[in-house]
Amino acid sequence: MNNRTFTMIKPDATSKGHTGAILKMINAAGFRIAAMKMTKLSAEKAGQFYAIHKGKPFYDELVTFMSSGPITAAILEKGNAVEDFRKLIGSTDPEKADEGTIRKLFASSIGENAIHGSDSDENAMIEGDFFFSKLEQF
Ligand code: CMP
Repeated sequence: MNNRTFTMIKPDATSKGHTGAILKMINAAGFRIAAMKMTKLSAEKAGQFYAIHKGKPFYDELVTFMSSGPITAAILEKGNAVEDFRKLIGSTDPEKADEGTIRKLFASSIGENAIHGSDSDENAMIEGDFFFSKLEQF
């Protein structure tokens, strides 16, 4: 059965011009795009999105970075979407990411790590609904 995950191509990958290459890898890995938009988060919105990390040492840096430039947000569909997408993007820290993963190819640090992927089906739904109305999810 197909299920869904949520992703953002982050400001570092956007500004370096990697959006097209990353979307090509996502399609090649068998994900269907169910929703997509390019947008820019305000600091307030970035803080809300990452509220689960509030209080952690990297939270302020994360909010500043995620609101520093445009991102591409998308809902992706595939069998085993959450787990398979996390394999495709690789470890949060690009130095620990496997060869051929999106973060190994495009991320420069644990903070500026090119792409986000939901960590559970429940969070995928919450995160997708944060960016897209039901009318924008296909
Ligand atoms: P993401 O998968 O988007 O979810 C939370 C983000 O917090 C993570 O990617 C990283 O970009 C960031 N993050 C996690 N740990 C650290 C850290 N130790 N220092 C800076 N940023 C971090």
